[in-house]
Amino acid sequence: MKRPVGGIAAKSHTRRANDRLDPLGANSDTLRSAHAFPNAPSAPQNASFRDREDEVSVQLRPFFSYYGGKWRDAAKHYAPPQHDTIVEPFAGSAGYSLRYADRRVVLCEIDPILVGLWRYLIQVSPKEIMSIPDVPLGGSVDDLNLIQEARWLVGFWLNRGTAQPRKHPSRWMREQIRPGSFWGTRARETIAAQVPKIRHWKVVEGGYKRCRVTRKATWFVDPPYQEAGCHYKYGPDYVDYDHLARWCRSRPGQVIVCENAGANWLPFRDLAATKTTRTGRRSSEAVWTLGGKVHTIRVPTYSENEMVAT
Ligand SMILES: C[S@@+](CC[C@H](N)C(=O)[O-])C[C@H]1O[C@@H](n2cnc3c(N)ncnc32)[C@H](O)[C@@H]1O
Repeated sequence: MKRPVGGIAAKSHTRRANDRLDPLGANSDTLRSAHAFPNAPSAPQNASFRDREDEVSVQLRPFFSYYGGKWRDAAKHYAPPQHDTIVEPFAGSAGYSLRYADRRVVLCEIDPILVGLWRYLIQVSPKEIMSIPDVPLGGSVDDLNLIQEARWLVGFWLNRGTAQPRKHPSRWMREQIRPGSFWGTRARETIAAQVPKIRHWKVVEGGYKRCRVTRKATWFVDPPYQEAGCHYKYGPDYVDYDHLARWCRSRPGQVIVCENAGANWLPFRDLAATKTTRTGRRSSEAVWTLGGKVHTIRVPTYSENEMVAT
């Protein structure tokens, strides 16, 4: 199947439902996916998001691959948002919000590189993305005449699942193994098609405590894991887990907190052994939730080969 630019290839019956439900029209390049029941009738106009779990959502692909990114797992293992606002206080690559990109998304992040990158993506034009060149053979991002944020973007596409942008292409990229997963035409086209869909997103720079959203929201809390989070520049040393536990318990709305199995700063329950961005490695995930159901949801399938980044 030819993959539509900027969307996720879905089963044809879902695509037909999407065409019917998509207010942007059948020619829209954004795919909307109905969680669980693609053919379910849409909810009444005045229904709140809490009543509309089966409503279609704008799903986007990752803008870049990031260590510990939750894009793949968000659809499989975490409940859909029950509120119009989604807050990711530990944003990273915002894997959960990407699955529901038309909601009011608020990201908070302590790493200035990620803050700069998200602010760039929120305002950059598709044309500017399309004009970012390839990294020359044997060269680095520093050979590109680009603003810093664009170099960070390319840098995250030189390898997969890193916590910081790279300067030089990885061996996988140099050897052209899965070329669509690294910086090149396909990545450019995907990002260019998607940037107009996140213009309404907001980014807060700093620690999670600065995320002062007071309305009811879905809080997707994915901090550096207490034991295993040392790969991040801003890892467990930047988090007071006792404080974070109290903070999570006091959030208004629905709260989903991610950790590794064995963590005990909240009463986590085991979730699943999930794939990681490292080949052959799995991670034993745990979750704590407040104010919402926990369930495994079905989403339209797509083949692994169609993944651009996770
Ligand atoms: C596990 S990653 C989040 C991954 C994200 N869910 C995704 O899908 O990519 C944790 C993120 O929290 C950030 N971080 C670390 N300490 C923080 C703090 N005190 N406040 C906010 N962000 C923090 C790290 O820089 C990192 O990007």
